Amino acid sequence: MMLDSSRPTVDFNPSAPGYTEDPYPVYARLREAPIRYWAEGHSWLASRYHDVQAILRDGRFTTDSRAWALASSLGSSSSPEIEELNRHGLFSLPDRDHARVRKLVSPTLTPRAVERLRPEIQRIVDERLDAAAGKGVIDVVHDFAEHIPVRVIGSMLNIPPELDASFHRFADSAVKQLFLMLLSAEERERVFAGIREGMAMIHEVIEARRKRPIEGDTLTALIQAEEQGDRLSKPELASLVTALLVGGSETTVHLIAFTVLNLLKRPEVLAQVKEDPELMKGVVEEVLRFDNFGKLGVFRYAKEDVEIGGARIAKGELVILFLAAALRDEAAHAAPDRFDPRRDAAGSLAFGNGAHYCIGANLARLEAQVAVSSIFRRFPGMTIASPPTFGAHPAIRKMDSFKVHLGA
Ligand code: HEM
Repeated sequence: MMLDSSRPTVDFNPSAPGYTEDPYPVYARLREAPIRYWAEGHSWLASRYHDVQAILRDGRFTTDSRAWALASSLGSSSSPEIEELNRHGLFSLPDRDHARVRKLVSPTLTPRAVERLRPEIQRIVDERLDAAAGKGVIDVVHDFAEHIPVRVIGSMLNIPPELDASFHRFADSAVKQLFLMLLSAEERERVFAGIREGMAMIHEVIEARRKRPIEGDTLTALIQAEEQGDRLSKPELASLVTALLVGGSETTVHLIAFTVLNLLKRPEVLAQVKEDPELMKGVVEEVLRFDNFGKLGVFRYAKEDVEIGGARIAKGELVILFLAAALRDEAAHAAPDRFDPRRDAAGSLAFGNGAHYCIGANLARLEAQVAVSSIFRRFPGMTIASPPTFGAHPAIRKMDSFKVHLGA
């Protein structure tokens, strides 16, 4: 790879104080320029809506980190379990295999299919609210949001609740392994251990279900597809189940917590939602656009030399697509810095775009709508007890704690 000394660079420091709490001033600065090279991060940064969308749809880029020229020096080739997980995962499979594997689960995640999960989601949410009732103050993250997504996926796959906490830890490691180059040596070791234990657990769950299939169960159907040989391989099955658990955990926890926060900060919007409960759908979309919990964005690797957005990206280079910055770009969203739950959410990049568009988007939306509507219905006098605190995380603006007075 030839390094072009004329490459336009940009200063960027995601560890700067205040960035996690409010990265939007930095995003606004990044959007002043098209695609720029971030030397410390060994990557290009795209923050404008049209650049981000174009790259998401551009077949000259891949999600497969093995295409990264720096993969062996900075990448994730340091644990056999991570290799196994990634090699057969949705980000690494060649296009045709990716489409084949996606098709096996996408019917269970259509809007109509997830609607059938509504009573179960409501039951899971109500259980948490029952446990909260009577406590004057709760932590929205730990006492509420954190318990919902992992149980919803667990319930969808008929995995017993006793495994929720272990799966939650696994999901945390599995997200972090995507950003290994941003972790300290100590954190990497913790991630490796987490992946090792998690993969062993996934294999156990699959083998137990193989012995005792359940009628109408998604996991049983996937195992049957695997047993037929040509539809799903054994490692693809394990990677897919992991992807559902991982993709569906921390993301949705944060969507729930950020939506509660944004509503408590805007009593006028909350009053409108009380008048018109359907508006909650728009609120959730708007939180994803206006206050996205993503910290960096999604990664793409150039499969060939590409000239785009004023940049010459060499084969094997990494481009980070700042979805959250793109979502505040006035080129795509009118008055982008105004929180408006009634705006048209079409064209939102919050769940990506193109072939890797989030497979769980409908489920995430429904979970957030049910969870947030329910907590405000149950505790209409809820107020902020202390502003949220944020912790270190390579990929998300990780809300560690967010205490509210229930007012009940
Ligand atoms: C607020 C919640 C969520 C957000 C913001 C979110 C965001 C995203 C984004 C931006 C992508 C595209 C990644 C890329 O192009 O590189 C993606 C992909 C994915 N998401 Fe989600 N997601 C959420 C919830 C979920 C849920 C609930 C599930 C599981 C049921 C899930 C499973 C996946 C999977 C498996 C992929 C990879 C799809 C592929 O490569 O074809 N996500 N998600």
